[in-house]
This record gives sequence, C-alpha cells and structure tokens, in this order.
Amino acid sequence: MTTRLIRAIGELTTNDPSLGDGTAMGRLTDAAMVVDESRVLWVGPNSHAPEADEVLDVAGGAVTPGFVDSHTHLVFAGERSDEFEARMAGATYDGGGIGRTVAATRRASREELTTQSHAHAAALRRSGVTTMEVKSGYDLTVEGEARLLEVANTITTEVTYLGAHVVAPEFARDRDAYVELVAGAMLERCAPLARWADVFCDRGAFSVDESRTILRAASAAGLELRLHGQQLGFTGGVALAVELGAASVDHCTYVTDEDLAALAGSSTVATLLPGAEFSTRAPYPSGRRFLDAGVRVAIATDCNPGSSYLTSMPLAMALAVREMGLSVDEALYAATRGGAMALRREDLGHLGVGARADFLVLDAPRAAHLVYRLGDAVVASVESATA
Ligand code: NIG
Ligand code: FE
Repeated sequence: MTTRLIRAIGELTTNDPSLGDGTAMGRLTDAAMVVDESRVLWVGPNSHAPEADEVLDVAGGAVTPGFVDSHTHLVFAGERSDEFEARMAGATYDGGGIGRTVAATRRASREELTTQSHAHAAALRRSGVTTMEVKSGYDLTVEGEARLLEVANTITTEVTYLGAHVVAPEFARDRDAYVELVAGAMLERCAPLARWADVFCDRGAFSVDESRTILRAASAAGLELRLHGQQLGFTGGVALAVELGAASVDHCTYVTDEDLAALAGSSTVATLLPGAEFSTRAPYPSGRRFLDAGVRVAIATDCNPGSSYLTSMPLAMALAVREMGLSVDEALYAATRGGAMALRREDLGHLGVGARADFLVLDAPRAAHLVYRLGDAVVASVESATA
C-alpha cells in the first residue's frame, strides 16, 4: 500500500465527533490527513503531519467526506421532459409516466443501458458522489429486472431490487398475480444480484399490505430492506418501514407527527429527496421538523427520468437548505454520513481513522461553499479509495 499525505487543508470536515471541534461535524482547521488506497490512517494538525510516500498539497482548500447518494434509479432508457414541462405548467405527478420508461427500457440493448447508466454515474461522481445506490424497476419482468440489476452491479455494490416499482402492464387486471411474481419467481431470480429490496408503497403503486408481503419475502430471501414511502400522500409507508426495520424510508413528502415519533425511536433513516419535490412541483417537507423530532436524515438525488432528473448532490443540498430548513452543515452531514447510515455503512460518510478514503477537495476555503456557490463549481477533485 502507498501512503498519501493530504496537507495544508484549510478546513477538514470529518463527521467524526471524536476529532476536531467536538461537534458532530468533527471539524479541524489547518489540518492534514494520511490515507492509503483504502482507508484513512491519520487525521490531525498540519504542523504534526507524519511523512508519507506521496504528498498532495491542497493549498488551504477545504476537504469533506465524499457524498453518499443512497437513492438513484440510474438504469433506464429514454427521457420524459414533456412530462416535466407539463408539471411546470401545472400538471400533477402521479407516477403514471413510469410505464413509458418501462417501455423504453425494455426496448434498449444491454449495451445502451450500460452506456447510459455509466454516463449518469459519471455525472454524479463529478458532483462529488463517491458511493451510490442503484435500483432496478424499469423492466418489471423476471429476466428484465435481472438484466437491470446486472447493469447496476457494473456501477456499485449497493444494488436494489425494485421489481415492485409499479404493477407491470401485463398484470394490470391481476395485480395479485404481479405481487406473487415479485415476491416469488422474480425475487428468486433477482435476490443473488442485489443487496437491497425496495417497494414503491404509495397511491397508484403498491398498498401497505402488498408492500409488507413483498418485503417480508425479500427479507426471507436474504435482502435488506428500504422503502419508497409517502411521496404522494399519507399512505402508511413510514410506519411499515419502521415495523419491518428497514434501513431507510425515502421521500417522506407527507409525514405525521406519529410517523416522526416512530422514526425517531427506530433504526430507520428518513431520506429526503428535494429533487423530487422540485421536479414534481410538490410541497417540500420540512427537514427541520424531522431533525427537531430526533429523526436521522439523509439527502439523496433520486436520479430518474420521471420525478427527479438530478445528478448533483450539491444542488440537492442547496434545495434542502433553502426549501427544507436544514442548516448548511446539516445538509452536508445528511449528504455524507446520513447517506451512509441509510445504507448501513459504518465505513462511509466520515473521515475518522479507518474510514474508507473517499473524500472531496474543494476549490474553496470552507465546506459551506458547496451550498453558497450554487452547483458543483467548488468540487475540485473527487478522491475514491481503490482497494
Ligand atoms: O422515486 N416514486 C417512485 N419512483 C421514482 C420515480 C419514477 C419515475 O417517475 O420514473 C421516484 O421518484
Ligand atoms: Fe425513487
């Protein structure tokens, strides 16, 4: 292993409260860090930095953990800009367009899907994302969902089986048979290709009871659970996620105080997706309300062609600050350690000793510039562990 000293860090955010200023952000000024190809080995004052095989002088720039995007639907074909334009003119989003992406995705070759999803993954990486979750869900046949998961596995290990995105068109008149397929033969085919199972539990998609059936089967097949819940209404998805011990319940556009109390006492993270509220012209949930209730919060892009065609984590953070009431630091934490918690990854989202050496060097003196300067302009370099 080659060691590398990152020196002259103007402001280092570690998200490790045992380091630096003693806050959750674990912040040091005038700092240095030593990494190898895999892990963080040392963090401390620049003046005490040990020697290393290589040196990267960041000349006073800020360093933060890499972003952990815990919710994307990257493997798809086609686009739905016409729906976006209609929504901006007043139309509402009901998930009805998912079928168009399913049709386009089924027609696409594996090569097209690979090229397209890698291009979107590269855009996310340029914005500072060093780990991303990727879901299936735009084919809805046994072999087709397996194909999407195989493509997802060429991008990440955080792969999610979402056969229960909507009822497949062939089953429109027999949704029970589709639920049986998703919880049966399709699950059996797909479980070896995924770590996670997810269900779109909402109006126009799957009911709480259907979602429970599917997720219980997925858990029995060895998958860990996450859930799309309460994007379109108060449908009970949050309580179901807590009941099943899901790692995360995502969207949470509509939540009750009871939902928040249940989340606060649970192992389930609430993942906010401000790109979805932006792109569907839905009301933003108050992130403040979640944090004040003691809920652990993540921010993710939800990158998909229908409800949130977003490939920038800094922009997701800016929306969370401006529209959801998070502080800049809370948004940074939610986009890093929050995402890691939503994926149950202790090694990600922080830069404590032993963490994965995934970090961002900013062309700015403070991490706040990630939100202050709108967009991805200040992310100068995205460093990912390679071993
Ligand atoms: O997370 N809500 C369900 N699924 C996606 C949107 C899918 C689509 O519209 O294509 C989401 O927002
Ligand atoms: Fe989603």
